[in-house]
Amino acid sequence: MIDPFGRTISYLRVSVTDRCDFRCVYCMAEDMTFLPKAELLTLEELERLCAAFIRLGVKKLRFTGGEPLVRKGVLGLIGCVGARLGQGLEELTLTTNGAQLARHAAALRAAGVKRINVSLDTLDERKFAEITRWGRLGQVLEGIEAARAAGLAVKINMVAMRGVNEDEISLMLAWCGGRGFDLCLIETMPMGEVAHRAETHLPLDGVQRRLSREWTLTRSGHATGGPARYWDVAETGSRIGFITPLSNHFCDDCNRVRLTCTGTLYMCLGQDDAADLRAPLRASADDAGLEAAIHAAIARKPKGHEFDITRQAVARHMSLTGG
Ligand code: GTP
Ligand code: 5AD
Ligand code: SF4
Repeated sequence: MIDPFGRTISYLRVSVTDRCDFRCVYCMAEDMTFLPKAELLTLEELERLCAAFIRLGVKKLRFTGGEPLVRKGVLGLIGCVGARLGQGLEELTLTTNGAQLARHAAALRAAGVKRINVSLDTLDERKFAEITRWGRLGQVLEGIEAARAAGLAVKINMVAMRGVNEDEISLMLAWCGGRGFDLCLIETMPMGEVAHRAETHLPLDGVQRRLSREWTLTRSGHATGGPARYWDVAETGSRIGFITPLSNHFCDDCNRVRLTCTGTLYMCLGQDDAADLRAPLRASADDAGLEAAIHAAIARKPKGHEFDITRQAVARHMSLTGG
């Protein structure tokens, strides 16, 4: 799959549910309306879609949500897709809020998952409750510990927010380094209506300059196929990554598309254009029509997003596609 700008699409992000057991302030509004259950693709249909994408060249597949681990039966789906590792698929992974990890870590590892990304914006219990509205820090820390014990490599995603957790970034870097975790800092993106986004937006170029005074950071050649740019941290032996969609966008190297749990394909996180794959999927047991619909969608992939923190770029919330 090659898009109009010559970019090879090899990374599929699959959102298995738009629901979540947290309500992070930058991601969701206080009172969210979720997709009616009747609209969801079955796990078998999602597997068929994943298989089609792998046939067409996807090498890296990440499950997201909402929170992927709240979808009933998701481990079965992950196991089925995991069976394709080594047959075109090179990496199978997941981004999670960690709340259900303690229960699922060992099964994830058994399904072929080797590393996971866990969202963790603060190590302060009270702040954690404020940011996630519904979450408990202790439960997530237990999940992370279970993941480590199960042999999963862990990367921590921290959305950097001015006046909220910016004073904790160095502490988080030390905490991650001490456990052998990489840390990724993320700039808030203007998706869906949420309160106080512009005030808390924190451009990461300044953060990096500040961190460089405290830590020995050298540009790393490490690449995951994701949007982060990494630096080695000499003091800890781990890495820090910066995801800077606003201050320094990475659209020129984009290799990914995202599928929702209703079979909608978004070709860009920051654009509204989407392609329906549910109709061609259900139209025939043969995948020819589906594959043609995927190729037609890739042929419309836009050049990039036009994020501007002072205005909402797209109406949908981040939780619909999980980034
Ligand atoms: P790795 O495989 O570890 O590199 O993970 P990843 O960064 O690809 O995935 P993850 O789910 O951890 O996403 C981290 C952040 O990157 C989230 O905030 C995503 O929304 C954001 N992100 C991922 N892909 C894109 C993209 O194409 N555009 C933009 N603007 N943000 C993205
Ligand atoms: N901007 C940036 N990152 C976000 N995430 C959720 N909403 C936003 C947003 N508006 C992050 C989560 C998770 C990842 C998938 O996306 O913290 O780590
Ligand atoms: Fe849930 Fe993740 Fe959104 Fe937080 S960022 S509300 S954990 S989907």
